[in-house]
Amino acid sequence: MIRIEALDKTFRSRRRTLHVVDKVDLEIPEGSFFTLVGPSGSGKTTTLRVVAGLERHDSGRISLGGRVVSDPAAGVFVPTSERGVGMVFQSYAIWPHMNVAENTAYPLRYLRPRPDREQARRMVAEALELVGLGALAQVPATALSGGQQQRVALARALVARPKLLLLDEPLSNLDAQLRERMRTEIRDIQRSVGITALYVTHDRGEALSMSTELAVMNNGRIDMVGTPRAVYECPRTLFAAEFLGQCSIIPGRVETVHEPGVVTAAVAFGAIVCRARAGIAVGQAVSLVLRPEDMVLSGAPGGAPGRIETVSYLGDRLECVVSVAGCMLRALAHPGLIEAAGEAVTVAILPRRAWVLPA
Ligand SMILES: Nc1ncnc2c1ncn2[C@@H]1O[C@H](COP(=O)(O)OP(=O)(O)OP(=O)(O)O)[C@@H](O)[C@H]1O
Ligand SMILES: [Mg+2]
Repeated sequence: MIRIEALDKTFRSRRRTLHVVDKVDLEIPEGSFFTLVGPSGSGKTTTLRVVAGLERHDSGRISLGGRVVSDPAAGVFVPTSERGVGMVFQSYAIWPHMNVAENTAYPLRYLRPRPDREQARRMVAEALELVGLGALAQVPATALSGGQQQRVALARALVARPKLLLLDEPLSNLDAQLRERMRTEIRDIQRSVGITALYVTHDRGEALSMSTELAVMNNGRIDMVGTPRAVYECPRTLFAAEFLGQCSIIPGRVETVHEPGVVTAAVAFGAIVCRARAGIAVGQAVSLVLRPEDMVLSGAPGGAPGRIETVSYLGDRLECVVSVAGCMLRALAHPGLIEAAGEAVTVAILPRRAWVLPA
């Protein structure tokens, strides 16, 4: 397990002081695929580098597998090479003058006790097999495609059999198709090795599809931690709601509390049965988070009347903005439903899907 307690990190220059990681607490269970997700500049890479020991922090404590590896107050700092971590960066950092096997073998020179030639050969072969590059061991690094370089970086991160795999935006240099394939592959490899992974990305699709748990970072702080479904469907804040996917945020007032976590809220175009954060009370002013997939547009009666304001054609679906009683709702529709903006539709909200937060 990785434990991060009250982690604080400030970058100081003569001109300014930047508080980049602000009292971050995280517990990352053994064997999990844990993702830090957040906008650019929110402190994800810095947190990862501090865990790796590539960066010193001001205060707080980091423990890996029960061993404190960094605690400035106690004067503890274990160097990267002794933390048992493997790392993959966005830039791959592959040596151009080495072949695939030599690149993969690189971390073994820092392993203590140092493996002998035969052991090293076996470890490299195993790591390359794991990432599907067994046949390319002798190929020069310069002859590899982007995806293959990424695999070498992954093999190199795993070759010394670390306890923890750290990945910083490892897929962002790949084309869209390869990126989706590599998501599954990295997950499969992580599971088969049984290693704990700490993954950094600003891509919500990656974060939601790959993680067992994720932490949403905002401005150096952890906004919330949860499973992909929990953070997407029950975001703690409007920031997390908007960061994790498209949504419409509309004002409302609670009319009825049916049971803990289920309320009816009145909005401009009717009353909606919603799920709600704990502690929401009757009469309270609230914000409803409505995801596009939680409303159904149709030409048939039986919903609130609306008008298509904008429509973008995406082939398999339409993304629309619909105005309903003065509210602008982001919605999806079947490509056959609408020809152009200006058309009339009805909007039905699926029950118990909208999410209610205090206004
Ligand atoms: N070595 C450094 N010296 C000064 N400031 C730094 C340094 N490294 C990072 N920063 C600043 O710290 C803040 C957080 O940076 P960090 O790289 O952790 O963000 P991030 O969440 O990884 O962003 P991105 O998604 O763009 O990679 C940024 O404002 C950045 O400019
Ligand atoms: Mg970064």
